Amino acid sequence: MKILIIHGPNLNLLGRREPEIYGRLTLDEINRECGRRGQALGLETECRQSNHEGEIIDWLQQSEAEGFAGIVINPAAYTHTSIAIRDALAAISLPAVEVHLSNISSREEFRRRSLTAPACRGSICGFGLASYLGALEVLKLTLSEN
Ligand code: DQA
Repeated sequence: MKILIIHGPNLNLLGRREPEIYGRLTLDEINRECGRRGQALGLETECRQSNHEGEIIDWLQQSEAEGFAGIVINPAAYTHTSIAIRDALAAISLPAVEVHLSNISSREEFRRRSLTAPACRGSICGFGLASYLGALEVLKLTLSEN
């Protein structure tokens, strides 16, 4: 089973971007660890990052036709602004898990609301890399139920 992992804007800067909030792992390192955990779970992971809302929407719309079974998405700042990504998540039938490295509930007021999470099966935030690994675990469980 193939899982699409989507990283939103500015996550390409991980490692040097506000490390006190987002940690010191680079995006490549996160992707590598996701690949490892995926493999252990019998999941094939494909990781993509974009700074562009429309590109993320295109990936979501194409995900089922591309043969993916589930989605892990960190919409980054689009979490708090993008009705269009929320609508794309609602439009597709694949299970999606929203993840955040930081705990968005304990940060600035404007980060506390996620427009995208209600269109996902669930969300995991605040655990750094483990948010992504946890999302793979729950997707595996969810997909095995069907
Ligand atoms: C983030 C949280 C967002 O509020 C922020 O805009 C990000 C990263 C996280 O993973 O903690 O870019 O999604």
